[in-house]
Amino acid sequence: MANLDQVFSEGAAPALDPIVVFGEWFAAAEQSEPNDPNTMCLATVGADGMPSARMVLLKDYGPEGFTFYTNTASAKGGELSQNAKASLCFYWKSLRRQVRIQGAVTPVSAAEADAYFASRPRGSQLSAWASDQSKPLASRAALEQEVAEVEARYGDGAVPRPPHWSGYRVAAEQIEFWLSQRSRRHDRMLFTRTAGGWQTQRLYP
Ligand SMILES: Cc1cc2nc3c(=O)[nH]c(=O)nc-3n(C[C@H](O)[C@H](O)[C@H](O)COP(=O)(O)O)c2cc1C
Repeated sequence: MANLDQVFSEGAAPALDPIVVFGEWFAAAEQSEPNDPNTMCLATVGADGMPSARMVLLKDYGPEGFTFYTNTASAKGGELSQNAKASLCFYWKSLRRQVRIQGAVTPVSAAEADAYFASRPRGSQLSAWASDQSKPLASRAALEQEVAEVEARYGDGAVPRPPHWSGYRVAAEQIEFWLSQRSRRHDRMLFTRTAGGWQTQRLYP
């Protein structure tokens, strides 16, 4: 539990594991943020080279990466199938801290997606079937109608995971921690993955 203060102390950063530091910052955000500390901006780039950013929820993280769930047939799913790289950005306003992550993206296993889907509230499970995410929708009523049809289809039974709904994991190649400081002389520490571990570099704000 030493990393929280050590990440910006000269000489200490090279010995730190940024995933552990992230865990400590995230734990602090869970204490301080009034809503959704696991909200992160996900940026993807499709074949046309145009970046696209939107918020998603972090559902798991560890040395192997940072996981979110979505409709794989959505705009972001299409972009990731064309260019399996992404950038994530967290901002914890009450802590005045930012974390940026970038790396290669891989799908989670079917078993992992099944387990997470099964843990979701039933209403969210039904919505995952009903929503043709990112496609044109005629009206609010049309969506509610589709939810009612899915509800009728499954009755009181278990709702299986839709084939178009799963998770992606971003394997961090770079992680940058940013901490607000007075007069915009902020702290920034960039961790870059190397063959032997993590290399660190302090950056001008
Ligand atoms: C706070 C917040 C959390 C969100 N979490 C998710 C999420 O975990 N998964 C998801 O597919 N969309 C989530 N969304 C909706 C996305 O921002 C986005 O509208 C949707 O995924 C469609 O994006 P796309 O058309 O670029 O694929 C969230 C939106 C907000 C504002």
